Amino acid sequence: MSQIKDPSLAEKGRLSHEWAKDHMKILTNTIQRLKSSQPLKGRRLGICLHITKETSVLIMGAKELGADVSACAANPLSTQDDIAAFLADSGIHIYAWEGQTPEEYDWCIEQMLSHKPDILTDDGSDCHSKVHGSSKFSSMRILGGTEETTTGVIRLKALAKQKKLKYPVIAVNDAYTKHMFDNRYGTGQSTIDGYLRSMNLLFAGKRVVVAGYGWVGRGVASRANGLGAKVYVTEVDPVRALEAHMDGYEVLTMNEAAKIGDIFITATGQTGVIRKEHILKMKEGAIMGNVGHFDVEVDAKFLLTESKLVREVRPSLDECVLKNGKSVYLIGKGRIANLVAAEGHPPEVMAQSFSNQLLSMIYIAKNHKKIGKRVITVPSEIDQQIAIDALNAMDVSIDKPTKEQLKYAESWA
Ligand SMILES: NC(=O)c1ccc[n+]([C@@H]2O[C@H](COP(=O)([O-])OP(=O)(O)OC[C@H]3O[C@@H](n4cnc5c(N)ncnc54)[C@H](O)[C@@H]3O)[C@@H](O)[C@H]2O)c1
Repeated sequence: MSQIKDPSLAEKGRLSHEWAKDHMKILTNTIQRLKSSQPLKGRRLGICLHITKETSVLIMGAKELGADVSACAANPLSTQDDIAAFLADSGIHIYAWEGQTPEEYDWCIEQMLSHKPDILTDDGSDCHSKVHGSSKFSSMRILGGTEETTTGVIRLKALAKQKKLKYPVIAVNDAYTKHMFDNRYGTGQSTIDGYLRSMNLLFAGKRVVVAGYGWVGRGVASRANGLGAKVYVTEVDPVRALEAHMDGYEVLTMNEAAKIGDIFITATGQTGVIRKEHILKMKEGAIMGNVGHFDVEVDAKFLLTESKLVREVRPSLDECVLKNGKSVYLIGKGRIANLVAAEGHPPEVMAQSFSNQLLSMIYIAKNHKKIGKRVITVPSEIDQQIAIDALNAMDVSIDKPTKEQLKYAESWA
């Protein structure tokens, strides 16, 4: 059972899947290593991730390791329809297409859950939230789950704090080999990619405002800086603000930044970061978008419903003519621009993130009883192994500490 946009795209999707697979050696080597032991045999996996070519490599890998997989999208606009068609054609129960309404998005999550997964993998925790909040799913027996992103981990920790978490979850985002690379280098590059595909303007010389100097913000700021933009950072955390200042960026408030920015990129995971009062101060032609998980960082509702005129001038780029007569532009309706306007992270970095996902699913399958109803980090041996695999895949060798160094490192004297 599947619901997708266009089954005839399956062959195009297969080629795209193979391209990604060829560049995800860390993950494919892990799958080859584990194949004979079939660690996911008999498991029903429910996957709520962005349906991209990289995700298809994870899904097909989990299938090779014995799992029966059902999948849906983690965002209404992020599905690559050719990949969805390829997955449906390959025997995956998939409910995903690009351009879902909120109701369709919800329906797809419910269809995925109707396959009664015993392990749930999510990105942003809409799916975990549904299992916890909706009476329809109160009798579901889930052994455990995993969570891909910062915002989802925050939501799950809030559930655990209230003692409402129903099963153990591994916070994949919190692995070093995930957030230090995916959030920073993956989002850094793919955000620029999304902005370029939608606006195709020069970054050099532009005043680029990055809201939030966390893992994502750092990556975006450094990539925009590398293209010759003058980067400004807004923050609420004094340590992060200090770091941005010492990294050479100008730190200021959004009120000040709104007046001078040419391009705005929010990356906070917070709500109401660029509000109506900021938008009204912006220059004619200012372009804004978001790469935080949810579409709550930029006031897209104000832009799309209270403007005199809204028209899509290029793919994923809406011109909004404000009542004050100025035109400003919104990328991807305020939803994660790197996935809506581009293809998300490159395969090499997703190979690390999804190796964490796959090994965490296997860990949950084996250890769910021991963990309890908690949010735990990826076990450090998995994190370390992925770093070793990544270095090997990139043909990088490192030194080993000598006996003398090991002794020195443990000595108090
Ligand atoms: N688009 C993607 O592909 C992608 C990839 C990874 C993470 N994410 C999402 O991006 C968001 C950020 O993730 P992260 O890992 O960088 O988180 P993080 O916690 O490391 O960083 C967020 C930063 O935003 C700052 N912040 C909070 N409120 C702010 C405000 N009002 N104004 C300015 N700064 C503010 C925080 O102080 C923090 O430094 C999350 O929603 C995460 O889920 C998206």
